Amino acid sequence: MCGIVGYVGPRPARDIIVPGLERLEYRGYDSAGIAVLEGDHIVTERRAGRIEALKGALNGRFTDATTGIGHTRWATHGPPTERNAHPHLGGKGEVAVVHNGIIENHASLRAELVAEGFEFRSDTDTEVLAHLVAALDDRPLAEAVREVMRRAEGALAVAVMRTDEPGVIVAARRGSPLVLGVGDGEAFVASDMPAILEHTREMVVVDDDCVAIVTADGVIVTDLDGAVVDAPSRTVDWDLEAAEKGGFDDFMLKEIHEQPTAIRDTLRGRLDPAGRVVLDELPLGGRAARSFDKVFVVACGTSYHAAMMAKYAIERWTRLPVEIDIASEFRYRDPVLDEHTLVVGISQSGETADTLAATRYAKAQGAFVVAVTNVVDSSIARDADAVLYTRSGPEIGVAATKTFIAQLVVLQLLALFLAQERGSISAGRIVGLVEAIDKLPGQVEEILGRANEFEALAEKWQDVNDFFFLGRGVSCATAAEGALKLKEISYARAEYYPAGEMKHGPIALIDDEVVVVGVIPQGDLHAKALANMEEMRARDASTLLVLTDGDTEGQELADHSILLPRTEELLSPVLGVVPLQLLSYWIAKGRGLDVDKPRNLAKTVTVE
Ligand code: G6P
Repeated sequence: MCGIVGYVGPRPARDIIVPGLERLEYRGYDSAGIAVLEGDHIVTERRAGRIEALKGALNGRFTDATTGIGHTRWATHGPPTERNAHPHLGGKGEVAVVHNGIIENHASLRAELVAEGFEFRSDTDTEVLAHLVAALDDRPLAEAVREVMRRAEGALAVAVMRTDEPGVIVAARRGSPLVLGVGDGEAFVASDMPAILEHTREMVVVDDDCVAIVTADGVIVTDLDGAVVDAPSRTVDWDLEAAEKGGFDDFMLKEIHEQPTAIRDTLRGRLDPAGRVVLDELPLGGRAARSFDKVFVVACGTSYHAAMMAKYAIERWTRLPVEIDIASEFRYRDPVLDEHTLVVGISQSGETADTLAATRYAKAQGAFVVAVTNVVDSSIARDADAVLYTRSGPEIGVAATKTFIAQLVVLQLLALFLAQERGSISAGRIVGLVEAIDKLPGQVEEILGRANEFEALAEKWQDVNDFFFLGRGVSCATAAEGALKLKEISYARAEYYPAGEMKHGPIALIDDEVVVVGVIPQGDLHAKALANMEEMRARDASTLLVLTDGDTEGQELADHSILLPRTEELLSPVLGVVPLQLLSYWIAKGRGLDVDKPRNLAKTVTVE
């Protein structure tokens, strides 16, 4: 996720762009930059860090230029340095580009452009776009951008300027958000409406594979063949705060709805069409993958629940023994680690003190450490031997949602990659699993489409204070995360237990005031888990079962049920967690609580 803003009109562009970028800081704040057209050349200013740093650097400059583009970055390719900050210039500086997204085929495009003599000045995937536009200097800018859109694979929202077409910004979109604002003798480009809402309420939402020509006279939107498409503007009546939350009441709800995008972005470029897992960032191909004899996964909080799922996936597919540890406990139990040990540290923030201490300890013992994090260049990313990034964009709600789902997905990829490289799984089986992974974003979308169903369910349990979340097998991870979400934001007593273990003690707590949430997808332990639910019902608990479509047996047993699309059993937490997040959300809202900032919690805990 990154934020882009563009302006063309009579006013100083920087006065619109810089405040606009500040409104988009929620999309990333690793670096910021601006490019404006001064006379017949483009000038830029870029800074690592927050927009504040860019403001300081501008210090009264760029006040005459009335066409410009700006960017606030959430790093994906290349560290968050000034060199990698956008805008990127193409050719000899006659083109400037800002981009939000990931160019999957950037490596091959870069090689081609280098062979043609283009000189690269950053580590980003974006720079190929700038040089590609520069290479097409014999065509009108809009046509050059259309051609680039045809050639670039992946997600992109871009805004482009070229010195020979002053007063023009060409913007285009595929997969990443892009809106245009239409004013009186001026026009705007932005990743999201809040950036430009104070200047205009007339917005055009650009569709995928469309290219917009933006001038002070208005906007013209075309398809990739250059045919003008109907793109009517609409008047937006949101206030600014509502717009920042994308029209949702809270960041948490917005972030729950961003989960299909988080999964898609996390998968981008990591599954090849032949059905193999491609993790170029891991130097663990072939022999290296075969050198491990055990795996530890360490994490805290929600990330620990991703570790719970990882244990099942890595053991099942690689046949390596996997231990998982709460990070704050790991090093104090003197774990047996050596150079044949793979340690995976999971931390969305990359700064959690306990997880950092655990991975540093593991590294000092000679283990190979892979970090799974959402923040490029975070401490865990810098410490680890290799990093697998989730690509969820910044998460503002304290209770993790979209970063968790992306962790689940990237850990599945890690398990399959190791299995593929170790030869512990057949190529055909990987193809089947890759197909199932590819369907997950659409399936999560389908579940989100039924969000009202979960709101109605939550209403019933507004006053209940005792919940048990039960699962078996990999569904233990889903149940554990469901319980944590509910207790974090609604303050209800919500405990997780493996369903089969209830009879050894906790069943003493079950009575007619308890709600039991059973996570029971189709799979090996389905019948046994249903039998455990019978035990809860026999003690008068109300039951909500999270089941797979078509599970009539489960439905008959449940007071309430939620049916989810069918997937591979080991992937089921990706789907199962979504209704549980929504349930927690609606219960907390019903109680009038602040879901984005629950009491006593912090987003990142940097003390041990
Ligand atoms: C805090 C947050 C949790 C989070 C945990 C681990 O406790 O409130 O939501 O899961 O830290 O954070 P990490 O950034 O390491 O994943």
